[in-house]
Amino acid sequence: MKAFRSRIFHFLNRVHYEYFEDGLLIIHQGLVKAVGHYEDLKEEWSQQVEIVDERDKLLMPGFIDAHIHGVQTAVMASYGADLLQWLEEYTFPLESQFSDADFAKKATQFFFRQMLKNGTTTAAIYSSVHQESLEAIMEEALRLNMRIQAGKTNMDRNAPTNLCENTDDTYLVGEKLIRKYEGKGRLNYLLTPRFAITSTPEQLVQLQQLKQKYPQIGVQTHISENHEEIASTKALFPERKDYLDVYEHYGLVEKNTLLGHAIHFSEDEWKRVKQSKASLIHCPTSNLFLGSGLFNLQKAWEEDIPLALASDVGGGSSFSMLKTAAAAYQVAALRGYKTTALQLFYLLTLGGAKAMGLDDKIGNFQIGKEADFILIDSSRIELVEERLQSAKTLEEKLFAILILGDDRLIDCVYLMGKSLKFED
Ligand code: GUN
Ligand code: ZN
Repeated sequence: MKAFRSRIFHFLNRVHYEYFEDGLLIIHQGLVKAVGHYEDLKEEWSQQVEIVDERDKLLMPGFIDAHIHGVQTAVMASYGADLLQWLEEYTFPLESQFSDADFAKKATQFFFRQMLKNGTTTAAIYSSVHQESLEAIMEEALRLNMRIQAGKTNMDRNAPTNLCENTDDTYLVGEKLIRKYEGKGRLNYLLTPRFAITSTPEQLVQLQQLKQKYPQIGVQTHISENHEEIASTKALFPERKDYLDVYEHYGLVEKNTLLGHAIHFSEDEWKRVKQSKASLIHCPTSNLFLGSGLFNLQKAWEEDIPLALASDVGGGSSFSMLKTAAAAYQVAALRGYKTTALQLFYLLTLGGAKAMGLDDKIGNFQIGKEADFILIDSSRIELVEERLQSAKTLEEKLFAILILGDDRLIDCVYLMGKSLKFED
C-alpha cells in the first residue's frame, strides 16, 4: 500500500469535480483504495501506510490522448503540405520503414517515452500497416503496464504498394491480433481502417465481419478532416450519401468507435453521430498545423456527444496534452466559443476515458480504479509559478497551467501506483 499527500484534483462527472487542497490518495495493489481530505483520512491510514509528501504539487489523473500515430514521431514538423500531400510526401515513406521489427521497436520505445514524459498514461494508437509495428506497440505497452488501445492500420489501396496489405488478409490477420492482444495486460485491440480513401469496400466488409464476430472490439478511423479528402471519398464511394455513411454502411459506427477530426460534418452527420453513440476525437494542433479547419467543440459539448482530445502526432505538433488543450481553447475561440479549463481538464481525463469506453477503469480516483496519475510541479516553469501567484481561483490556476504549461511541468508519472521518472 502507498499513500500520497498532495493537492488532489479529479472529476466525478462532466460538471462535478473534487479538489482537496490538502488531500490524500491511498493505493492498494495498483488500485485506488481511498481519496479525500488528509485530515479526514489520516487517522485511519497513517498507521498502515507510509505517506509520500507531495504537498507542493498538484496530483491528477494521467492524461488521455485518444488519437495518436505510433509511427509518425519523425514526421512531426514536416513543412508546408495539406493532409493528402503530407501523407504522400512525408508520412507514407516513414511508415514504410516499420516493416523492420528492429526499427519499429526502437522508434516505438522513443514514442512511448515522449507520451509518458508529457503525462499521457493512456492512448488510442495507430500502428503502420505492418504487424511488426502493432506488435512493437503492444509489447511496449505490456512492458510498461500501460492502459493502451491500439490497432494495426488497414490499407489496401491509394497508398504505396508496400503499404497496401493483401485484401484477403484483413480478416485473418485482424482476428489473429485480436486473439493475441485483446484483454492481455491492460490492452484493447481496435479495428483501424486508416480512412475511407485507403480501404476498398472489400476490406471494409472484412472489418465489418470482425466487428460482428467480436462486437466488444472498438474502431478508430479518420473522418471529414479536409475538403480534398472529403471530395475524394465521395468519388470513391458514390453510392454513399456522405462520409459518415461510408463507415455506417459497414457497421463501423457504434459505441467505442473513435472518429478522429470530424471537422466538416453536415447537420445530418452530426445528428446521426449523436444517435450512434460513437465518440468524436478533436485533434486541434494537427488541425491547425495541416490547415484542416476548426472543429465545433461547442456543438459536441452541448450535444453531450462522447468527446476526447488528441495530439494526432505526427500531424499534431506536440505530444503535450496541455498544449493540445491550449490549442483546443484557441480553436474554439476562433469560432467564438470560450471553452473552460474545467471542460478541458475533464476531456483530458474522465471525458477521454468515457469516449474510449474506459471510464470504469481510469479517468478519476473513484475507489477501485487503476491508479494512473501525474504530479504537476508548477515551480518547474518560472513563468507559470509567477502567474499562479496572482491567480485567485482554482479555475484560474488550472487555466494558467493549461495555457502556459508543457512537459516541463510533469514532475512524475505513476502507472498503477508505480512511478516513472524521466531525466533528460
Ligand atoms: N488521414 C488519414 N491518415 C491520416 C494521418 O496519418 N494523419 C492525419 N492527421 N489524418 C489522416
Ligand atoms: Zn490521425
